[in-house]
Amino acid sequence: MSIANAYSAWSVSYDSDRNWTRDLDAEVTRRLLTGTSFPVVIEAGCGTGKNTGFFCDVADEVHALDFSEGMLKVARQRVRSPKVRFHPVDLSSDWPCREACAHLVSFNLVLEHMESLTPVLKIAARCLVPGGTVLISELHPFKQYQNSQARFTDALGQEIKVQAYTHHVSDFFRAAEEVGLALVKFNEWWHPEDPARSVPRLATFLFQRPA
Ligand SMILES: C[S@@+](CC[C@H](N)C(=O)[O-])C[C@H]1O[C@@H](n2cnc3c(N)ncnc32)[C@H](O)[C@@H]1O
Repeated sequence: MSIANAYSAWSVSYDSDRNWTRDLDAEVTRRLLTGTSFPVVIEAGCGTGKNTGFFCDVADEVHALDFSEGMLKVARQRVRSPKVRFHPVDLSSDWPCREACAHLVSFNLVLEHMESLTPVLKIAARCLVPGGTVLISELHPFKQYQNSQARFTDALGQEIKVQAYTHHVSDFFRAAEEVGLALVKFNEWWHPEDPARSVPRLATFLFQRPA
């Protein structure tokens, strides 16, 4: 099943499934960005709009991109702010955004589905104004080494694993450097219910396009 079709099938239960990674991402995104504001935000891989409403709180204009019609349908119903525009877009092809138009580009739990990081970060860097920020919040590679990946149970009770690619922490640093983004902050995160001494669940990276 294609990634887009898998997410469309998942869209009916994505928000109600037990999913600590989804919930932790929402929490850390708010922790990292609350108190800042951005004229224009691009949310790459917006899914069901879990974070889109928050981006509307901290931005004047939000462009939410995704290639799953099912996920976008839920997001459109959920987030009705006049600040947001949803765009059906494959992130690996060109985005409907002008050069140097965005002050924040955010990737939340999406880059595990991109085979290569450099091309997509190159597009993100091109969309950023000088001094603009890229936030990446991803399933930690250590979890991927333990065979963790996006998966859900479909309407027939079958477990569907969504195609995913392992990116090492150094791959994010290297790809960002290749496209001229500078590291501002790297963090590792655990869900409150994660067992003591478990590997981190999420990795976040804040990069900046030099001013
Ligand atoms: C795990 S969901 C995350 C959704 C949301 N960001 C969140 O944190 O809940 C991954 C999303 O990325 C989207 N996605 C994956 N690969 C994509 C691509 N190449 N182009 C556009 N969207 C993509 C999927 O359709 C899905 O909605």
